[in-house]
Amino acid sequence: MNAITLQTDRLVLRPISLDDAPAVQRHFNNWEIIKHLAASVPWPYPDDGAEQFIRDSLLPRLKSDWQWVWVLVLKGGSGEAIGVVDFGVSRSALGDRGFWLSPAFQGQGLMTEACAAVNDFLFFDVGIEKFTVVNAISNIGSRRVKEKTGAQFVGFGELAHHNGDTKTEVWQVTQENWRQWRRNQ
Ligand SMILES: CC(C)(COP(=O)(O)OP(=O)(O)OC[C@H]1O[C@@H](n2cnc3c(N)ncnc32)[C@H](O)[C@@H]1OP(=O)(O)O)[C@@H](O)C(=O)NCCC(=O)NCCS
Repeated sequence: MNAITLQTDRLVLRPISLDDAPAVQRHFNNWEIIKHLAASVPWPYPDDGAEQFIRDSLLPRLKSDWQWVWVLVLKGGSGEAIGVVDFGVSRSALGDRGFWLSPAFQGQGLMTEACAAVNDFLFFDVGIEKFTVVNAISNIGSRRVKEKTGAQFVGFGELAHHNGDTKTEVWQVTQENWRQWRRNQ
């Protein structure tokens, strides 16, 4: 089940592998992404940061149930990873889902498209009832993706971010709400 591939109009979401490390390193090693993330993410980003993280953190996690990590690949493109969505039930204090997209591809609705496909998979194929997501309070883009994919704001949490934010917005996405959301589309 962890090895599932998802399709959207413009994207393939395929399970991450160590072969993705060079592309992930190239795109993720960027202050415009990392400034929005938790202070626990290393910065400056090490030269082997992506390889180490995929090998030592992500791939071992994928041996457990209820964990998925997809790279986003543009259909008709070079096939390289341009972003990541990862989901794990009770993944961490950072919520159950994380995502980032290379700045060159932002603002075209791609992460909204990816998250809608992930919601469909989690709620309608896996049967998850609900999950929690968070973002730094100043992270407008991440907030918008949540608002556009059925998340409901439930309150604030505490977390240090690279950009100085110490608070997160906390959201819940429920199967019931997503079903309703899909009906209204
Ligand atoms: C968050 C992120 C994944 C969004 O990806 P994306 O493909 O650009 O998202 P979408 O295009 O689907 O939606 C982004 C929305 O935010 C809006 N937005 C982004 N930055 C904004 C800003 N500074 N001010 C106002 N709106 C903004 C966009 O206009 C769009 O909303 P719209 O469709 O209503 O116009 C991407 O910005 C990113 O990787 N950021 C850095 C890493 C990160 O923040 N990860 C999440 C941590 S919680």
